[in-house]
Amino acid sequence: MPKFHLAFFTNARPHGWGVNGPIPWSGHDSRPEVWESGSFLVDLARAIERAGFDYLMLEDHSVVADRYKGTTEVDLKHAIRGARLDPLPVITHLAAHTSRLGLVSTLSTSFYPPFLLARLMATVDHLSRGRAGWNIVTGGEDEAAQAFGIGEKMPPHDERYDRADEFVDIATQLWDAWQPDAVVHDEETGTYADHTKVRSFDYHGQYYRSRGPLNISRSPQGRPVFCQAGSSPRGRAFGARHADTIIAATAGEDPVAAAKAFRDDIRRLRTENGSNPDDCKVLFPILPVLADTQEEADAIAARLPKVDQNAIDRALAGLSADNNIDFSQFDLDKPLPEIETEGHRGTLAAFSKQGKTLREMVEARLGRSTRTLQFVGTPASVADRMGEVADQIGGDGFLIHAFPLTRRYIAEITDGLVPELQKRGLVRTTYEHERFRDNLLSF
Ligand SMILES: Cc1cc2nc3c(=O)[nH]c(=O)nc-3n(C[C@H](O)[C@H](O)[C@H](O)COP(=O)(O)O)c2cc1C
Repeated sequence: MPKFHLAFFTNARPHGWGVNGPIPWSGHDSRPEVWESGSFLVDLARAIERAGFDYLMLEDHSVVADRYKGTTEVDLKHAIRGARLDPLPVITHLAAHTSRLGLVSTLSTSFYPPFLLARLMATVDHLSRGRAGWNIVTGGEDEAAQAFGIGEKMPPHDERYDRADEFVDIATQLWDAWQPDAVVHDEETGTYADHTKVRSFDYHGQYYRSRGPLNISRSPQGRPVFCQAGSSPRGRAFGARHADTIIAATAGEDPVAAAKAFRDDIRRLRTENGSNPDDCKVLFPILPVLADTQEEADAIAARLPKVDQNAIDRALAGLSADNNIDFSQFDLDKPLPEIETEGHRGTLAAFSKQGKTLREMVEARLGRSTRTLQFVGTPASVADRMGEVADQIGGDGFLIHAFPLTRRYIAEITDGLVPELQKRGLVRTTYEHERFRDNLLSF
């Protein structure tokens, strides 16, 4: 069986802070003086690099959410989005503490001018010696549009992707403006860079204007690795066009079939747009539940998590922010009406179509759904099952995430599960290359 890739997904927030304060085994990690120093993420990055992960992806939202019940209370109480660090400087910090791990920061095409983003990512790619990645999001929250001064509302859903297409095209031209051999560093003639190999241009698009070149030479990877996570039809088309790796949030009566269908769809779209399907790795988010015995793991999975009022508030505050809709207006135990959203369309459509109640949506969001990929057992049995599932889906790999995240969970993955996967030849034991994209494309 061919190998598959592993990635890890989290954010720069008080780790271990759950829906009812710190959870057991969170140690001191949710304390502000600890998490705000970045030390937890440094230890996470080093642990997953030791385990051979392809990348760490840091998600991001840039404003305190106040759509739910019209107040910031829930967000700030639970540290949902109101206690964050900006992921871009964080990955730069992590680059100094690691040497092979891919480091992905989320940045929204709606909030950066293309030139600024291209400069920042080229810099991080240089500093990390070719390990920078960009999770391309378009951002959906109207409050963020107001915070960044771009208007009262975000542009409509599909238009945001049209803008993002143009954004990526400009950024790519900026990165490509420096030919690989433009820096000559010729001591005899005293010439640092050959101006004939650095292209000047004016870009006049429908949404953006920019003038190249960047004043930063071509970075080790040429451009960062592109990561993307949209699941709506427009989001998939965007991802299939640009992404080196796609994070696919899928759900269905048969979760393996749903995952396979998603991957097949991306591969079909790539074939249609003329790109090689094998050059885009589609990873599926999973949250393995691991224990010494199957019975213990089943018991942990069965009691996780408690859907109390805090859990409901927390989940609905996030959902409200993502979709610019106050979900406190709906009855928790009635099927959710059809809702038009300009926010996270794919996820909401998947739930409301099935006549789910809001409570069921919350339970699913908290990881209790049987409709997403589940792995519960000992490190050995979960490794076996992951191998089977990867084979049925067709390949590529998984993205591990956990909320709230603790050092104990990281150790279960890196020192319990991964060695079992390695013994079976399912994941790498050492990095093949120095750069992120080369590792991603090595199998
Ligand atoms: C695993 C995962 C991580 C995501 N991370 C972010 C993020 O950090 N910031 C953000 O604004 N959106 C994030 N999103 C949202 C996606 O970028 C996208 O907006 C969302 O999935 C809806 O896309 P769609 O309308 O095309 O379905 C994430 C989605 C998933 C599934």
